[in-house]
Amino acid sequence: MIIDSKNLIANKKRLIFGAVFILIIIYFIFSNNESYNENFKEKSQRGAGGVNSKSQQKPEWNDNQLVKTIKQNMILNNGTIESDLYKVKWLDEIRPDNERVRKFRIKKNSDITMNIDKLYDHPPIAIVTSNKPKHLDRLLANLINNCNANIDRIKVFNDGKSVSTILSKYNVTDELRISKRSSTQQQENSNTNTVALSNEEKQYYMNSHYKEIFSYMFNNESYDKVIFLEEDLIMSPDSLEYFNHLSKLMNYDPSIFGISAWNDNGFKWNVEQARSNYDNKFSFLRQDHFGGLGFLISKDIYKKRIEPNWQIESTTPWDVIVQKSMRSGDSCIFPEIPRSQHAPLLERNYDSIFKDQPEKDGWGNYNFYLPKITTIHTYHMNLSKYLSHEYDQQVKKRIMRATEVDTLNSLPMMYSTSNRFVFYVPSKSNDDPRWDTIINKLQMVGRGNGGAVRGIYKGVVETTFFGKRVYLVGTYSPFYSQQQRNKSPRILFNDFPKEEFDSAITDPLTNTMLFRTDKDLSLDITLAEKGYSCKDFCEKHKVSCLESDMMLLTDSTIVLLQLEQHCSEVNYVPNNNTDTFYPIKDKDGVCWTTNQYSKLSCTSKSPKKSEASRICICKDKSF
Ligand SMILES: *[C@@H]1O[C@H](CO)[C@@H](O)[C@H](O)[C@H]1NC(C)=O
Ligand SMILES: *[C@@H]1O[C@H](CO)[C@@H](O)[C@H](O)[C@H]1NC(C)=O
Ligand SMILES: *[C@@H]1O[C@H](CO)[C@@H](O)[C@H](O)[C@H]1NC(C)=O
Ligand SMILES: *[C@@H]1O[C@H](CO)[C@@H](O)[C@H](O)[C@H]1NC(C)=O
Ligand SMILES: *[C@@H]1O[C@H](CO)[C@@H](O)[C@H](O)[C@H]1NC(C)=O
Repeated sequence: MIIDSKNLIANKKRLIFGAVFILIIIYFIFSNNESYNENFKEKSQRGAGGVNSKSQQKPEWNDNQLVKTIKQNMILNNGTIESDLYKVKWLDEIRPDNERVRKFRIKKNSDITMNIDKLYDHPPIAIVTSNKPKHLDRLLANLINNCNANIDRIKVFNDGKSVSTILSKYNVTDELRISKRSSTQQQENSNTNTVALSNEEKQYYMNSHYKEIFSYMFNNESYDKVIFLEEDLIMSPDSLEYFNHLSKLMNYDPSIFGISAWNDNGFKWNVEQARSNYDNKFSFLRQDHFGGLGFLISKDIYKKRIEPNWQIESTTPWDVIVQKSMRSGDSCIFPEIPRSQHAPLLERNYDSIFKDQPEKDGWGNYNFYLPKITTIHTYHMNLSKYLSHEYDQQVKKRIMRATEVDTLNSLPMMYSTSNRFVFYVPSKSNDDPRWDTIINKLQMVGRGNGGAVRGIYKGVVETTFFGKRVYLVGTYSPFYSQQQRNKSPRILFNDFPKEEFDSAITDPLTNTMLFRTDKDLSLDITLAEKGYSCKDFCEKHKVSCLESDMMLLTDSTIVLLQLEQHCSEVNYVPNNNTDTFYPIKDKDGVCWTTNQYSKLSCTSKSPKKSEASRICICKDKSF
């Protein structure tokens, strides 16, 4: 045991203060929290700012028209609205790898087993593959064994070398070679000296292949909705349930362009601590831009938006074409906790994720919906809150109820409240460079295809910082109201008594983080035993490790002050280091931390031969 409690206590003493200041914060928050209900003026323009150069484009949807259309669709679909939206049955069946059987066990009084092949309902899946047979093999195993995919609904579109042996292993019969490249490829198969394609040629073939696949699925096969997967993805066990249920919203709400399994900023640190696991799992959002890495598109959207925009093949990346097919006012649904993972490295698979094995390229440092408890459970949920008008109503209400902060630097100090926060971004559009300042501060993955701030919805980004929910609201957003803002509770950084801060430290964020590590008695910063991950170490002591708390260890000053008896010095690992087991103390007593939130992981272990120990922050949730 290497916990040094003396050191901790000594540190806690270093800044003497406490309750008074926390009370001041609580006072600020609750003093004028009542006025949120009134007078929130709705602005009628939708999708203000739009994506990229769409600022001037006339929005596709007018609020009133859209609500009218949705209401009409609800009447039209009255027969199925209950199962589509109101009482969705979400089958959650998680099994560890060694229990993989295509049988469904219902545990009641006795074990009943039945064949599930015909039981699972999901839209057809189009897998796009090109000369990555092992990735394809991994994805098929993943879909069939973990996600309960219906084999009859998988079509594999191949424009590389033959994959028939892999497909026959999984009894998948639909291999389609419809790309322009297939004919040339066939000749190359007999010729071992395959000529490498230039990047431009690759883009061209990829563009044309995707174009053919879309057309085949929606024109030749005339499917209503299709899930598109690239062969190097790994899907979460409930990903097909996710696509199946969320896509039903499209039958009602024509402003939904697509459903994506991926969240660009779904990092492990980016979750709201005050919310239950269930609420995080089943939280879905809307964004103004196209989301890939496993997505679903409907025939309606294809015919109205994409096909007219994609008449000829070109070297334009296919996803840029799809992005450009979106109109102002369209949005895509995406999950707070990702249902897919991009995994170019073959060592990464369902098993390695299940066992928390570290990986090298950072893709695994995202959340992934994969509970470690084996469950067979059916959740019932009401998805109608994701329809455009209901969703907007909620966003509006949440922003109204949130406490304004004038700087995100205040957030580490707000641990004693369950409040949510709003930060106004004085910007004119999504293109405004002031967004980049804030994205960089939050270390979010910045702008995507078409220049959109990732995850933005009508000028609002919903995210977290130090485990607290934050709404970043552009002052051009239809959700912005100066009148409402004037009435809302507000915390100004300059109102904090400055004597609380260490005068030797000039950086305000370091100061608030330090304040937090000193004052938040639920947190302990300690060294774990060698070979332990922080998760295992904290859990062994009946406390928890959260990446959102580990954010406090991304500042070398704090690590040094908290562990001064252990660390002779504290350095940052270079940014190009992809290991996720920092901070650590190495065998020479030098401590290393990272200043990149995306590298934080409770589950990583430092390599045995390094003789290093992880530095952990454990939370006692009983506080
Ligand atoms: C939908 O059907 C139910 C009964 O099946 C009926 O009571 C209800 O009025 C219908 N709603 C609409 C909007 O037509
Ligand atoms: C589902 O939620 C909507 C509002 O979001 C509500 O109108 C509807 O009655 C709810 N349905 C059920 C079955 O609870
Ligand atoms: C494929 O089909 C054969 C024969 O019907 C069967 O024995 C085998 O289990 C199937 N494989 C999979 C992965 O479903
Ligand atoms: C799809 O339909 C088009 C138009 O009818 C036809 O020319 C094409 O050959 C079909 N493609 C396939 C792969 O069947
Ligand atoms: C990281 O960058 C440093 C210098 O910038 C370089 O010397 C080192 O080789 C790089 N390491 C890796 C793993 O790329």
